[in-house]
Amino acid sequence: MSLKVFVLIVLVLLPFGDALSRDDFPPHFLFGASASAYQVEGAAKEDGRKPSIWDTFAHAGNANRYTGNADIACDQYHKYKEDVQLMAKMGLDAYRFSISWSRLIPDGKGSINPKGLQYYNKLINELISQGIQAHVTLVHWDLPQALEDEYEGWMSRRIVKDFIAYADVCFREFGDRVKYWTTVNEGNVFAIGGYDAGFVPPQRCSPFSTQSLIYNCSGGNSSTEPYLDRQHGFIGFNLLTYGFFPLTNTSEDISAAKRAQDFYLGWFLNPFTFGEYPDIMKKNVGSRLPLFSKSESNLVKDSIDFLGINYYVSFYVKDNPGSLQIKDRDYMVDMGVELQPVFENGTTTDQFPIVPWTLHGLLDSLRNTYGNMPIYIHENGQQTHWNSSLEDWSRVKCLHDYIGSIPNILRNGVNVRGYFVWSFLDVFELLAGYESSFGLHYIDLNDPTLRRQPKLSAVWYSNFLNGRIMDPMITMEVQKKNPSVVLSTFVSNNPILQKVQLKANNSC
Ligand code: NOJ
Repeated sequence: MSLKVFVLIVLVLLPFGDALSRDDFPPHFLFGASASAYQVEGAAKEDGRKPSIWDTFAHAGNANRYTGNADIACDQYHKYKEDVQLMAKMGLDAYRFSISWSRLIPDGKGSINPKGLQYYNKLINELISQGIQAHVTLVHWDLPQALEDEYEGWMSRRIVKDFIAYADVCFREFGDRVKYWTTVNEGNVFAIGGYDAGFVPPQRCSPFSTQSLIYNCSGGNSSTEPYLDRQHGFIGFNLLTYGFFPLTNTSEDISAAKRAQDFYLGWFLNPFTFGEYPDIMKKNVGSRLPLFSKSESNLVKDSIDFLGINYYVSFYVKDNPGSLQIKDRDYMVDMGVELQPVFENGTTTDQFPIVPWTLHGLLDSLRNTYGNMPIYIHENGQQTHWNSSLEDWSRVKCLHDYIGSIPNILRNGVNVRGYFVWSFLDVFELLAGYESSFGLHYIDLNDPTLRRQPKLSAVWYSNFLNGRIMDPMITMEVQKKNPSVVLSTFVSNNPILQKVQLKANNSC
């Protein structure tokens, strides 16, 4: 073989050699996409649904931070069939969604709404019939307003009884088909946002708020375990996670990074693993931190079957001992740290930097601290503006790079079981309304049909899920459709695409 032919063959094969493929993952590794009830369903006042605290918050103006509400949103309540078909066409293994408590049990307790029951049965059945697993969250922050009005919701221990009754209905009615349950989405952000900083409902600003998040499940296990035994389901908890890395390698910054992780994640994961809050929380928060009784500690310890993590950004951490001198302290001050986002060259302020080593670092650290519990990456994705281009290269790059980092994480022995993109559609964003979007599919809100329009990221994800080798394929497809497309930053940041580009240029 002449040298020229050999070089040509290498050039043709090279781009595919290190490209990402589904075969890089174990066969049972799940790929899915996520959404939550309030953010996609719409039909807010239909068929007996009553308001949740999010309806109230949105109709009161979203704390003046953005406009809009999710009365209609993506109208998944009426379009669920179409959406599930789209999921199936894309090749999703699983759909992570939440149940609207106030659609199923409109007053939060008492009678079940038959139409609500029917809707979730239809959605779950449709998913199952298309071979898609249902991963269900019970509370994606949207507590029934009736319970907030009656006893201040999660502030009262009366919530325990009503939450158990609600969970009981869900397990009983859907547990034959749903095997993965998450009790609370982003429990940490819900507590900080709702009860410390007050930027999400129920908008309380009490430093004592963490009490409301300890649910005494004394009746809970006896209610759920019989179903678990019969149904072989798994119950987990979800946290918004960040990777925390010391800004410098001084011992002060190293322990500050550990402290930040203990506050953000250990706050929940220490009780779940060891039955106690982290020592540093006990020390810095002092008597303001409620302690677990022996029986509460036993109930909480080992009570999750898996951890769901939402992962978007990471921080460098600098020690800030001065903050502990402040007299009136809240959660953020109690940490005694300064956080600086981990950036990547060329990151714009409204998009998340794409730094897969931080996900790897976080997962290694969770494994080293809490053992090798099963982890589902429940959310990951990229933020763009709602009406920005369908050619969402930054999202493609985000998915490619984070998904591409997982095989190595698995080889390192971390027990990651699945990956879900946030979000399947452009949804009503809880912190930004319709101003920002994370979706694989765009919806033009002025189009009365609310047609789902696949973005490039949807095409990319679908190609990947269907076993196509990724980067070169997507490049060629896009170029075929639109020869003038500028592959700009994605190409310049991506060695595989650079090779393809080089090859294309050379061949002209
Ligand atoms: C966090 C929440 O779970 C979800 O509701 C939100 O829309 C996304 N992540 C994006 O911020």
